[in-house]
Amino acid sequence: MKIAVLPGDGIGKEVTAQAVKVLKAVLGNAAEFTEAPIGGEGVKAAGVPLPRATLELARRSDAILFGAVGGPGDESGPRHLRPGLGLLTLRRELGLFANFRPAFLFPELIGASSLKPELVEGLDLIILRELNGDIYYGEPRGIMVNAEGKREGVNTMRYSEFEIERIAHMAFRTARDRRRKVCSVDKANVLETMQLWRETVAGVGKGYPDVELTHLFVDAASMQLLRAPKQFDVVVTPNMFGDILSDAAAMLTGSIGMLPSASIGDGNKGLYEPVHGSAPDIEGRNLANPLAAILSAAMLLRFSFGRKDDAARIERAVRAVLAGGLRTADISQPGMKSVGTVEMGEAVVAALGRV
Ligand code: IPM
Ligand code: MG
Repeated sequence: MKIAVLPGDGIGKEVTAQAVKVLKAVLGNAAEFTEAPIGGEGVKAAGVPLPRATLELARRSDAILFGAVGGPGDESGPRHLRPGLGLLTLRRELGLFANFRPAFLFPELIGASSLKPELVEGLDLIILRELNGDIYYGEPRGIMVNAEGKREGVNTMRYSEFEIERIAHMAFRTARDRRRKVCSVDKANVLETMQLWRETVAGVGKGYPDVELTHLFVDAASMQLLRAPKQFDVVVTPNMFGDILSDAAAMLTGSIGMLPSASIGDGNKGLYEPVHGSAPDIEGRNLANPLAAILSAAMLLRFSFGRKDDAARIERAVRAVLAGGLRTADISQPGMKSVGTVEMGEAVVAALGRV
């Protein structure tokens, strides 16, 4: 088992170290871990956010454990040097088009949720975000000079029928293993690309008569997510709407520090990353919550290696640690014990032996 470890920037390094510790405790010598720079660290090491050697390592690995990329000032400067581009290029180069972001509420964290307990008790939904298309990659793009000599920003929302079909199939297949409900999110009332999205998802849905399909415009979806999130099972979204809705969904589970993710394509190779960013404001202070990274490691075992029992064991260990009252700052609750990134990771490793 070859696992590439790409910690990236900021707290990405700190949380990834804990996830690797947990994987090593579960896998022993069965896995080989190789680390490489990406994002701002890639620019520092090789002048680009996705160094060639990092891409090659990712290509020959079975799975990629990813931390976070980015830092202050990401929104300015030339695009080809922005840390996020490292991740975007990797997702596309490896054909990882399906991004699973499960918003699962551990009962122990019900008091940390942004919503009232009765609205989130038992919450278990998946945001399935399309990851290789949309306005993220559409051409033409850029900052152009128009006929009046003024600058004009251009990005293009674009989806082919094929791209929509493959993510739709993934959504329906995923729902079949769960509560058999798919909600597709779009903005078909305004955008032609989204009209094609809706028509295509509906067409694919005809092949899955046992799965209930509903459609919501993205504004209504964000409202429903905050009003009555338990109505959702699998929520399939275009790339940009999924980026936004998944951060919101994370807060229902207590913290962005609790949301793991898996990005997969046609094969077993996958990229596993916590949904949170690099959080430069708390970098290097042992404050970050490593649980999203550790839960991403569990997804790695389940999706890329079919090791369902090991994955479930990690999830039980996380639950045991939460039940024991340990909390990082982002999920702190009165009466609980505050711990740092490293202590939390070590507590999960210790709990593996008990669950
Ligand atoms: C995410 C992040 C990335 C995205 C950034 C870092 C490029 O926000 O994975 O949600 O927008 O996809
Ligand atoms: Mg995001």
